[in-house]
Order: sequence, then C-alpha cells, then structure tokens
Amino acid sequence: MNELNDIKIHRGLKEIYLDRTKSSFIDGKNGKLYYRGFNINELANNSTFEEVSYLLIHGKLPNKSQLNEITIWMANNRDIPIEVINLIDSIKHLHPMDVLRTAISTLAAFDDSLDDDSIDSNVKKGLSITTKAPTIVTAHVRLRDGKDPISPEKSLSHASNFLYMLFGVIPDELDAKLIDKDLILHAEHGLNASSFTARVVASTQSDVYSAITAGIACLKGPAHGGAAEGVMKQAQEIGDEKNTTSYVKNLLSSGGRIMGFGHRVYKTADPRALILKIDAKNLSERKGNPKWFGILQSLAVCMEPYEKKGICENVDFWTGAIYNLLDIPDDIFVSIFALARIPGWTAQIAEQFSNNILIRPLLAYVGELDKPYIKIEHRK
Ligand code: ACO
Repeated sequence: MNELNDIKIHRGLKEIYLDRTKSSFIDGKNGKLYYRGFNINELANNSTFEEVSYLLIHGKLPNKSQLNEITIWMANNRDIPIEVINLIDSIKHLHPMDVLRTAISTLAAFDDSLDDDSIDSNVKKGLSITTKAPTIVTAHVRLRDGKDPISPEKSLSHASNFLYMLFGVIPDELDAKLIDKDLILHAEHGLNASSFTARVVASTQSDVYSAITAGIACLKGPAHGGAAEGVMKQAQEIGDEKNTTSYVKNLLSSGGRIMGFGHRVYKTADPRALILKIDAKNLSERKGNPKWFGILQSLAVCMEPYEKKGICENVDFWTGAIYNLLDIPDDIFVSIFALARIPGWTAQIAEQFSNNILIRPLLAYVGELDKPYIKIEHRK
C-alpha cells in the first residue's frame, strides 16, 4: 500500500496527453485554434458548416464537386423516422438535451449498417447523425409547443434549414449565416470532456451511435456545454447594467462562478469568443435590442481583473446573447452546441478506431483493507 502514497495523481487529468491527433490544435497560450491545420478565423470567415464537416471528417478541404456532393447528401438525409418523432412526442417534457440523447440513441435502431464497423460506414453514420440532429431538436421544440414538426427543406443550407424547421419561415440570410458561423466555431475542440467521453466509448470498440450519445450526455453539464444557457440566466438575474458590479461581487464572494468565463486550456482569450463578441454586438444593433449585449459587456469589464489569473471569456459567453437575439429558446442553447460538435466527435471517434487502444486509467485506492465482515444481525 505504501507505493500508492507515492503515486502522482493528475486530478481531472489536467495537462495529461492521452494520444496524438490531427483533428484540431488548441494553442491555449496564444489563444489560437486550428481545425486540421486551418486557423479558426479563416474558417469562420470563409467556410460553411457543410465544408467544415467534410474537413473534420475527411481531413482535407473538399474541392467543388466534393463540397457539392456532401452538401446534397446532407440535405437529402435530414428526415427522421416517424417512430423517432413519436418517441420525442412521448418525452417532450424532458430537457432538450435528454430528448436529443435519447433520440440519437434510438436512431441506431433504424440504421441498416449498424453492424458495419468499416471506417467508411462509421464516418457515414457520424455524418448522418449530424444531418438528422437539427430535425430532432426542432421537432421537439415544436411538439412541446403543441405544433407539428416542420419537414426539412432540401434547398436550404444546414444552418438555414435549422432555423427554418425551428420557426417555420425561411430565415433572414444574415441570421442563417451567423448560425452557420456559430456551428463552425463549435465543431471541434481537442480532448474536451465530451470528446474524451466519445473516445472512451469508441475505445471499447462500441459503435458510433453509442459514442455520440455518450458525448451528448457529457456535454449537457454546466461546466461544459451548458454554460451558454447559464450565461443568459445570469444576464437575466443581473437585469440591468447598473447591477453588474454588485452581482459579480456577491457571486464570487460566495464561491460562485461567472458562466462563460474560464477554460481548462485557454489561459488567454478564447479566439471563438473574440469572433462571436463582434457578431453579438452587430446583431444587437441590427435587431435594435442592445440590452443583453450591454449587460454582458459590463460583466466582461467587471471580470477584467481576473484575466491575469487566466480567467477570460470562453466561446459560450457571447453565444447565449446571439441565440437570445434570434429568439431561440434558452433551453436549446446547449443542444445547438451538440448539433455543431457531432462532426468533431465523428472525426475523433474515427481517429480512435483507426489506432485503437482501450482507454483505461487508474485510481489510487486510499480506503481501508481487510475490514472484518459483520453479519447484518450484528451491525449497529
Ligand atoms: N468564475 C469565477 N472563477 C473561476 C471561473 C469562473 N467562471 N472559472 C475558474 N475560476 C477560478 C476557480 O474558482 C479557481 O480559483 P482558485 O484557484 O482560487 O480556487 C481557478 O479559477 C481555477 O479553476 P478550476 O475550476 O480549477 O479550473 P478548470 O480548468 O478546472 O475549470 C471550467 C474550467 C470548468 C470551464 C471553469 O472555468 C468554469 O467552471 N467556468 C464556468 C463554466 C463555463 O463557462 N463553462 C464552459 C467552458 S468552455 C466550453 O465547454 C465550451
């Protein structure tokens, strides 16, 4: 037992490298993010979610005909079986992440290639889940509101179709472009908790549906994907810019955390937050609703002293305000993160499968040993 005392424990696996990857690189010191070697700023400004999905899954940018092919394939594969719609209807009282997790798990039952574990089939499954996930989220929102789900519209892009299925009207081009950019920015991010979870599941040689379902379960928590919803809750609690300073003081002095701040890897500004901050500002001007941007901006100013401790805005800080300004319900913010992350999970699951090793770390036991077993009738 003495040797257990000498073990160096890496709680939370902080700063531990698990493997090598070509999927994404987070330069946390300099606040840069790359997907497959491409700077996120370039992708956010020039690409589309369909193109980024191709990039992550195939490892290279598509040429024109490849992009055309994946875009058409995605548009043609958005429908979900009626059985899944009925299932969503029967659990519509649940949080959208619970519904998404359950529905994606159920989609496996309708995939004829479930037992085909070739790379091609796995990649196709990941892409199929990517295309169907917005149909699940929007069908849920409409069913719980007592409305019929809206069928996907093939002529629209992935982002535009998502807004269309949510609201039932062809969205404004700028709104759709903003959601497209938001999806790009959330698509992949190193060995974050949910990608790690998906990799652990893949490492047991389980299937893509299981790994993505597990990724969704992990993303749900407020320390990970649930922060955008938390940011807007905090903004609503603050209610007015003049209350921000006292709100932050009270929360921090009672050991609370400001949602949308801090990151395990970035110890400087999260590059995604810098991009989305400009978009949130422009959107609030375009919609003539400066309130939320103003409150968040005042929150950011209050948190400036913490920058030197490496506690800076993360990607979720501005996304909540953007979704709110687009009239998207608060409780699907984290689901949108999940929709975006599926290509990233798929890329990492494929990477794990291609050079697999069972992920199985150790725990150092610190309890007692050889305790006497006392029969139930003699226990106090
Ligand atoms: N508000 C106030 N203080 C914070 C915050 C915050 N948001 N984040 C970290 N800190 C402080 C901690 O209190 C701690 O202080 P101490 O050393 O004095 O005890 C120190 O910074 C380090 O915090 P850890 O929890 O050890 O850092 P870790 O890397 O484990 O946590 C995390 C990262 C979970 C994201 C954390 O910053 C947090 O809880 N943030 C709020 C939730 C959030 O925004 N999550 C989204 C993350 S990004 C994403 O998944 C898209």
